[in-house]
Amino acid sequence: MKLNFTLNHQPQSLEISATMSVLELLRERLNLSACKEGCGEGECGACSILVNDKLVNSCLLASAQLEGAEVMTLEGLRETDKGRCLIEALLEAKGVQCGFCSPGMVLALYALLNENRYPTDDQIREALSGNLCRCTGYGMIIDAAHIALKRGKGLW
Ligand code: FES
Ligand code: FES
Repeated sequence: MKLNFTLNHQPQSLEISATMSVLELLRERLNLSACKEGCGEGECGACSILVNDKLVNSCLLASAQLEGAEVMTLEGLRETDKGRCLIEALLEAKGVQCGFCSPGMVLALYALLNENRYPTDDQIREALSGNLCRCTGYGMIIDAAHIALKRGKGLW
């Protein structure tokens, strides 16, 4: 089938298999490697992307469901002012983690702050609850959310 959507602000028109997952489409067809395959079952958030500004697990989404959608991956988000603000805040808070979980964490924070400029720590924890890290804590990522809001006054 033919699929038309916007990816990182660029229009796309591709011939695809309708059942191919979005994760496979992004990684294998479009060479975008920020989203990762962790569990492949919607449990870990390593494959997170934004679809119409909502956080979505791309491993659970069929490519056909992207018709007409606006998709953003970390590759696109990091080129935006909000994306840069978040990444700088994560660096300042020492909240940068491994390449497997970090892309999803950044997108989850973006989805939260875009909707809620005054999140409590519990709301930040809740927003990150679908993005798993088994190695470290979430404390520095929560700090990064507050730094991003302070630094990015007027952005969010
Ligand atoms: S790989 Fe998609 S949620 Fe784990
Ligand atoms: S899974 Fe990335 S630092 Fe733990």
